[in-house]
Amino acid sequence: VNENFRKHSPAGTVYLVGAGPGDPDLLTLKAAKVLAKADIVFHDELVAQGVLAMANPAAQIVNVGKRAGMPSTGQDQINRLLADAAFSHPVVVRLKGGDPFIFGRGGEELDYLQARGVPVEIVPGITAALGCAAQAGLPLTFRNEATRLTLLTAHRAEDALAFDYAGLAAKDNTLAIYMGKETAARVAAGLIAAGRSPETPVAVIVNGTLPDERWLTGTLAGLGSVAARAGSGPALIVIGEVIRHSTPWREALDGSSHSSNAA
Ligand SMILES: C[S@@+](CC[C@H](N)C(=O)[O-])C[C@H]1O[C@@H](n2cnc3c(N)ncnc32)[C@H](O)[C@@H]1O
Repeated sequence: VNENFRKHSPAGTVYLVGAGPGDPDLLTLKAAKVLAKADIVFHDELVAQGVLAMANPAAQIVNVGKRAGMPSTGQDQINRLLADAAFSHPVVVRLKGGDPFIFGRGGEELDYLQARGVPVEIVPGITAALGCAAQAGLPLTFRNEATRLTLLTAHRAEDALAFDYAGLAAKDNTLAIYMGKETAARVAAGLIAAGRSPETPVAVIVNGTLPDERWLTGTLAGLGSVAARAGSGPALIVIGEVIRHSTPWREALDGSSHSSNAA
C-alpha cells in the first residue's frame, strides 16, 4: 500500500463477524445483513459454505484459513490484508467460526485495526460450546449441579501443562475445551490428579450443529481414548455432570445410538 494513500482516512469499516458454529441458520440477523452488503469477505476454513452463500454475490471471497496441507495465512498478514482492504472497500467482512472473541484471535485484529485508525464493528456469533450443547439438549449450567462454565483451549501441550487444575477440578464446574483433541489425555490426568472424579461424564462433539455431527461419550478416565476415536473435523470436549442430561448420553445408556459410546 502506498504510504501517501495511507495518510488519508480509510473509506471502509471492517466488521469482525461471528459465523456461528456451523449450521447457517445459527447466524445472527446482524451477521446476515452485514454479509449481504459486503464488498469483500475474508473467511476462515471452518466457516460453512451455507454461510458464505449469504454474502453479496458481487463480493470478493478470500479464504485465509488452512487448506488441505497448505499453511494458513499468517495472523500478521491477515491483519495487513484487513487494514489494506478498508482503504479500497466500504464494507470489509472478516468472517470467523463461532464468536470472533472466543479463541478466534478477534482481539488481535481489533487491536491492530484500531491502532491504525480503521473503524471496526463486532458482530457476535454463537460460539461452538453453546451451539454444540443446544443441539444435543445439553444444559451447560444446571441449578445447584453446575454453577459455572469454563471455556478453555488446549491446543498445545504447553496449554495443557499450564492449566490451573486445582481451579478446574470442582464438580460444579462444566468445562468446554476448544482444540483439545490432541491433549485430551493430559488434561484428563491433570484434572483427576487435582481431585476431579474419574467417573465424570465427558463428551467429544465433532462437527457440532452440522449434518455430520458426531458425539462420543465416556468418562474422564477414558477421555484420551474417546478423543483418539473422534476422527477428523473440529471437535469440542465437554466435561461435567451436566452431560448426563444430554440426549446422546441418555441414548448411549439405552444402547439406541450408533454415534455415542458411553463407557
Ligand atoms: C480456532 S477455534 C475457534 C472457535 C470459535 N471462534 C468459536 O467461538 O466457536 C476452533 C475450535 O473451535 C471448536 N469448534 C468450532 N466449530 C466447531 C463445531 N462445529 N463442532 C465442534 N467444535 C467446534 C473446535 O474445538 C475447533 O478446534
